[in-house]
Amino acid sequence: MNHFDYRNGILHCEDVPLTDIARHVGTPVYVYSRATLERHAQVFQKAVAQAGKVDVAFAVKANPNLAVLRVLAREGMGADVVSGGELERALAAGMAPERIVFSGVGKTGVELAQGLDRDIGQFNIESEEEGMELAAIAAAKGLVADAVLRVNPDVDAGTHAKISTGKAENKFGVPIGHAIAIYTRLAALPGLNMRGVALHIGSMLENLEPLAAAFGRIGTLVETIRSGGLSVSHVDLGGGLGVPYRPGENPPTPEDYGAMVARVTKGWDVTLMFEPGRVIVGNAGVLLTSVIRVKPGIQHPFVIVDAAMNDLARPALYDAYHHFDPVAQTREMMTANIVGPVCESADTFAMARECGAVRAGDLAVFRTAGAYGATMASTYNSRALVPEVLVDGGRYAVVADRIAAATIMGAERVPEWLMS
Ligand code: LLP
Repeated sequence: MNHFDYRNGILHCEDVPLTDIARHVGTPVYVYSRATLERHAQVFQKAVAQAGKVDVAFAVKANPNLAVLRVLAREGMGADVVSGGELERALAAGMAPERIVFSGVGKTGVELAQGLDRDIGQFNIESEEEGMELAAIAAAKGLVADAVLRVNPDVDAGTHAKISTGKAENKFGVPIGHAIAIYTRLAALPGLNMRGVALHIGSMLENLEPLAAAFGRIGTLVETIRSGGLSVSHVDLGGGLGVPYRPGENPPTPEDYGAMVARVTKGWDVTLMFEPGRVIVGNAGVLLTSVIRVKPGIQHPFVIVDAAMNDLARPALYDAYHHFDPVAQTREMMTANIVGPVCESADTFAMARECGAVRAGDLAVFRTAGAYGATMASTYNSRALVPEVLVDGGRYAVVADRIAAATIMGAERVPEWLMS
């Protein structure tokens, strides 16, 4: 559920007509609903609490906007970060250091030291080599790092190949068959407190079976680690829950997920950790755009909008579906190719899409754009960096400025020796 609804024929975010935001901020612009963010944070946390002692860390990569992080911090969420930049954002948004988990397959020595200096709660180690480096840095600082070992359970998540992470051939974690040996060696290092294991098999999962299978394998691993005399107090189950992108799509709900987790992890006697991203922010955002013009095509007209693949990369990268709706409600339908202005055919949001009819100058939205939207934006074709707005009831604020092409050009320079 979300707070983007038609009222008097105009699409609103909470109590704000999107026409107001377009008039005052311009388009393209991402618009987020605070009420939706809060609701999703509450629903997810309540759903997983069925499984016992839990700790939920929002996957910052899905939407790192400071205001969004602040809303989620106020809802009691921690943060799952994958870079020094994300770590600083989480702290700046008011997340408690002890609620921050540092994931990622290529943390640099500088980032590991930064995590230690910031006194974060947990490192999710992705290789023995990384664990040894962290142990050495921590020991040199006279510290002990709380860590879990990310395991690759070799399960097919059944999602898009580019966002699948739990198959043996993926770069993430250590192979499950090597996990006990690596865990045992790392647990012996003085700079590390190995306290458990982690996994994350992929994103946008449309059914729970692969997750249940992977969690089952982790349960067996926990037993084996314990039978070797080592302790396991934390298991990080990652993120990955899908959200509805198409009308009528029904991925598992957080309640279904929580019930599955409770069933599969029964008797583990650990703190379960979660790293949800998409399910918290996906439906809390839209990309608001204007139709530049409609151009006839051989089969279908091209609706050319002012948002492009640089603003919302998901369709170009993963053939992702984002529902397209006119801001002014209409019964008139059209079948169109919806494209941006960027000079390559990858800049296509939809082909032969049946949607509400739009004309030049109309406003429209791409829905479910709150996750992996603005954060994956670029300035390709020397376009501005897309701004972001947060709505709260009847008020809204620009929470990220539009960064003009001229500002970006201003950070570049031509060396003197090229001037003459
Ligand atoms: N934890 C780890 C270790 C992850 O790698 C990810 C996502 C998450 C948690 C959060 O997963 P979520 O709950 O959002 O599915 N750019 C792609 C998605 C990439 C996901 C990367 N990892 C997209 O636009 O679909």
